[in-house]
Amino acid sequence: MSFTDFDFDERLANAATLPADLYCNDAVFAHETRRIFQRTWQLAGRLEQLPTSGSYFTFELHGEPLVIVRGKDEIIRGFFNVCRHRAGPVAGGAGCRPSLQCAYHGWNYALDGRLLATPAFEGVADFDKNDHSLVSVSVAVWESFIFVNLDPTSTPLTDVLEDIPALTAPFNLANLKFVERRDYLLDCNWKVYVDNFLEGYHLPMVHPGLMRELDFSKYRTLTRRYYSLQDAPIRPASPKDDQRYYQSDAHNEALYFWVFPNLMININPATLSTNLIVPLSAEKTLTIFEWFTPEQELATASERLQATIEFSDEIQQEDIAICEAVQRGLRSQSYDRGRYAVRFENGLHHFHQLWREFCVTE
Ligand code: FES
Ligand SMILES: [Fe+2]
Repeated sequence: MSFTDFDFDERLANAATLPADLYCNDAVFAHETRRIFQRTWQLAGRLEQLPTSGSYFTFELHGEPLVIVRGKDEIIRGFFNVCRHRAGPVAGGAGCRPSLQCAYHGWNYALDGRLLATPAFEGVADFDKNDHSLVSVSVAVWESFIFVNLDPTSTPLTDVLEDIPALTAPFNLANLKFVERRDYLLDCNWKVYVDNFLEGYHLPMVHPGLMRELDFSKYRTLTRRYYSLQDAPIRPASPKDDQRYYQSDAHNEALYFWVFPNLMININPATLSTNLIVPLSAEKTLTIFEWFTPEQELATASERLQATIEFSDEIQQEDIAICEAVQRGLRSQSYDRGRYAVRFENGLHHFHQLWREFCVTE
């Protein structure tokens, strides 16, 4: 029996969660890499990493070496960072260059991917430089965020984001400045972390500090085609609230977006953070937090920003501890599947339906 062979009810109240084996199995992990991560829009970087023509940065995306470059025509393009000669890297690290040169035997490529020069390569029969451009990948930009997609036939990024640009318009994303990045390594499957993010059900037990900030009775999760949104009003501060963190002068809502499969965008008073979930193996996951704030805050409110980051770090440590414990539980012979809390776990059910759509359906 295949691991994709299990019943899944589209009705939340009747459904059981994904089988535990899907969270522990190397074959599932390889399948997800092909079926999910190499077919969906992945956050790759930010426009400020490509300030001028010739700017580039390299990175590895789920096992694929890639380079993103701003061309002489200012167009941002993505390529596999793999030379057409014998697969050497055509760019390393990040920087600014008039062309890309392979580090192995020096083949030279234009910023738009065309092969320009092949040193000492005379006498090769039936070889046309025009047939040996770098292989491109799809790139899309939303506000200051650069996304790539290894599947040329995938749904356009704008259709995946749907009305997120409209919902985030009040926060003026284009004006946000980068503050800090923190990486966290977790001993759990990437879906354990995503499942945990997608429900507020665990807040009372796991996040006492966050519970003080939010009006939990109004916590809700809305699901769309490829994303979901959790929101809750920030509780008004009263004089008795000496442990409160959020100021009440900013907007009074916490918004937590999740874009299938692995991008979270958290909007709290005065800051926005992205959290990218990078699966490393069946039971190892990296999460990359990056914080952003309006330019004026950066100049005047560094203490408050630092407090925001520490508060977020505290919540993350709480989530890491519970996710790693859940991973151990999923490996137990005693457990296979559970049921969804209808009031709180519709976001998980939505994620698990998308998982089935990508991993099970042809
Ligand atoms: S592998 Fe790139 S020039 Fe040989
Ligand atoms: Fe949490």
